[in-house]
Order: sequence, then C-alpha cells, then structure tokens
Amino acid sequence: FIEKKLAGKKVIVTAGGTKEAIDPVRYIGNRSSGKMGFAMAKVARDLGADVTLITTVDINFNNMNIIKVQTASEMMKQLQEIFQDTDVLIMAAAVADFKPVHVSDQKIKKNNDEDIFNVKLTKNPDILKTIAATKTNQFVVGFAAETQNLLSNAEKKLASKNADVILANNVSQKGAGFGVDTNQITLLEKGHEPVKWDLMSKTDVAKKFWDFYLNK
Ligand code: C5P
Repeated sequence: FIEKKLAGKKVIVTAGGTKEAIDPVRYIGNRSSGKMGFAMAKVARDLGADVTLITTVDINFNNMNIIKVQTASEMMKQLQEIFQDTDVLIMAAAVADFKPVHVSDQKIKKNNDEDIFNVKLTKNPDILKTIAATKTNQFVVGFAAETQNLLSNAEKKLASKNADVILANNVSQKGAGFGVDTNQITLLEKGHEPVKWDLMSKTDVAKKFWDFYLNK
C-alpha cells in the first residue's frame, strides 16, 4: 500500500532524447534511454499525482497521459500548452543542443562524386530556460549531466535556467547516467548546500526525489 501523498498534484515529466530530423527517414539523436524520466513519472503516478509524460520514446504506461514528440521544438510547444496548469515540471529529457537548419522534404540521395556530406546545424531553444522564465508557482526541476566540474557547472545551471532544483550526475562515473538502471545524484537547491546521494537504482532516485519534494 502506497499512501497517495501526491493526490491532486499535476506533474509533467519529459524523458528521452530528442530526434532532430534531417530528412523523412534520418535524424540526429543521442543516447538517452528515458529511464530516469520514466522512473520519476511512475513513482509520481504511484503516489497519486496526475502525470503527463512528454517523451520521444515509443512507450506506454498505465494511468498516465503520454504525449509523443520527436524534436525539441515539438516538446517545447507541448509544454507551453500545459505548463501554466501544472504543479511540478521535471525536465529529464536530453534535448539536442542543435538541429539541422534545413529539413529535406524528400530522402536525401547519396552523391557518388562526394565523400563529404555537410549538415548545417542551428541552436535549439533551451526549453527549460524558456519555460521556467514563465514560472508562477510551479516547482521546476532540471538535470545536469556533467563529465567535469560537476558542482560549479550544475550551480550555474540552477541560476541561469531559473530552476528550483538541479539533479546533477557525473556521467563519466560508472553506474551513473545514460542507458544504465542506476544513477548517482547530487541535489542542488536554491539557497541550500548541495547534497550528494549514494549510487542507487533510478527508481530509488525517483522515490528519494519525491520524498524530498513532499518534505519541503
Ligand atoms: O545545459 P544542459 O543541456 O546541460 O542542461 C540540462 C537541463 O536543461 C536538462 O534538464 C534538460 O532537459 C534541459 N535542456 C532543455 N533544453 C535544451 C537543453 C537542455 O530544456 N536545449
């Protein structure tokens, strides 16, 4: 039996890597599996929250509103429509920093005379930063995947992205980050000292996060 401590709360979770189209059959993607976001969404649902999962991954979970997107622009558009009406946003998606300038309508043919194929990229919007700038009472959580200077980089993100919390993980550490079922988090919260959590399953990270949120 799980007490429905998040009953009445609306939670949005984004998860998975964005897929930035080059043409109808090709895209630029990343190695994000979506597992951390899925765990956040499932634990929130089990605690009674009304959960919307916006994801690039073809997946289905019971008792959750699932919105399937591909690109960062689509993810942002969906979020803009529902953000004002939510209590918590967990931005666990690995959003591509760049997208192709042009998306070809037709499959691009290989040119046998050319060994080099150039794809020109342009910056994607920073979804978290853009959305959190419109924050009223929403509690906004971002992730930071770092390979060096974990704390200073994550602290910068906490401030620059206007998030309430950043969950930082050192992805060069064994058992933390992309694809694996475990994670090692350092929680950074405005006005508080960083707190380092042990290495644990992503489900346990999610349980610990919601416990933290409920004790605020
Ligand atoms: O800047 P960086 O990509 O390290 O920030 C990570 C956090 O920002 C994550 O929560 C991610 O979902 C979010 N993000 C975003 N839009 C981007 C890049 C990252 O919302 N274009």
